[in-house]
Amino acid sequence: MIYKNVLTAIGNTPIVELTLDSKARVCAKLEYLNPGGSVKDRSAVFMIEEAERKGLLKPGGTIIDASSGNQGIAVAMIGAAKGYKVIITVTEKISKEKLTTIQAYGATVVLCPPAAMDDPRNYHNVAVQIQKQTPNSFMPNQYFNLSNRLAHQTLLGPEIWNQTEGKITHFFAAAGTSGTVSGAGRFLKSQNPDIKVIAIDAKNSWRSTKGNPKPYAVEGIGIDFNTPITDYSIIDEFLEVTDEESLGMLQPLAKQHGLLVGLSSGAVAAGVMQYLPKLKQGDIAVMIFGDSGRAYLSKGFYGRVEDTVPYHVALKQPEVMQL
Ligand SMILES: Cc1ncc(COP(=O)(O)O)c(C=O)c1O
Repeated sequence: MIYKNVLTAIGNTPIVELTLDSKARVCAKLEYLNPGGSVKDRSAVFMIEEAERKGLLKPGGTIIDASSGNQGIAVAMIGAAKGYKVIITVTEKISKEKLTTIQAYGATVVLCPPAAMDDPRNYHNVAVQIQKQTPNSFMPNQYFNLSNRLAHQTLLGPEIWNQTEGKITHFFAAAGTSGTVSGAGRFLKSQNPDIKVIAIDAKNSWRSTKGNPKPYAVEGIGIDFNTPITDYSIIDEFLEVTDEESLGMLQPLAKQHGLLVGLSSGAVAAGVMQYLPKLKQGDIAVMIFGDSGRAYLSKGFYGRVEDTVPYHVALKQPEVMQL
């Protein structure tokens, strides 16, 4: 099949089974195989095409959004493919790879200091201000736009249901905006109310700490304010994970399973490991691996340039190299 353009190639990512010490089948949906490299491609294209249909975004327009990285990458890719200007506000927590990927698609990146939601320098507030100042502009506003959640209810949920032939019993996803877990979870529960929907949150987030958040390193996850996207009626359980637990999963996933995944996937895998004793024979658990480890290589979690082996140490007989 030939796709009409890169945006129609979003979705239909594979689900693969992991070999784990469990009676249940534990699987990962490899959302990092989306064209923009993350689960955010789905919700971004859904929100932007809805804005086009509603006349909120017109040719020659500008798309502005606040992002921890992947939403920005998705919006920048979509803007490039559709011919819109794109401005993305980010915080200093973003990896270099994600920041320069947004730029690679031709978007402008605005760097904001870490600041609370009530601070005008907060990256979300800066994006809102830029949008007010920019004529013919649209802000997908993923933390407040309910279409973010609807995108996953419409696209991701049915895909998982069909790929598991309706046999999924547990659904695990990281909660950032919570669009993925709430939206796909809602669809899955509409098909079978017994499916358990489990959200993975950062242990230091606003929700986990009951309003006293502390810094944490994992990008893309953590419920840090009261967003209307979180559907508490759909989520059966929250699992809270630390940075250490999340980062600790990255090397085993890459080196023992061949899955080079990003930090939020490490967090989801850490949550699944906590939950593993509760899974039974016949259960099918699906977790979302939201992006790839390639977006974080410079952070040194997977391997370091310093650990390479010089050629003369690797060669048992260096003399064969003489020219
Ligand atoms: C890699 C990755 N995983 C998970 C999430 C969380 O998804 P959601 O915002 O739908 O909760 C994000 C959000 O940015 C992300 O970038």
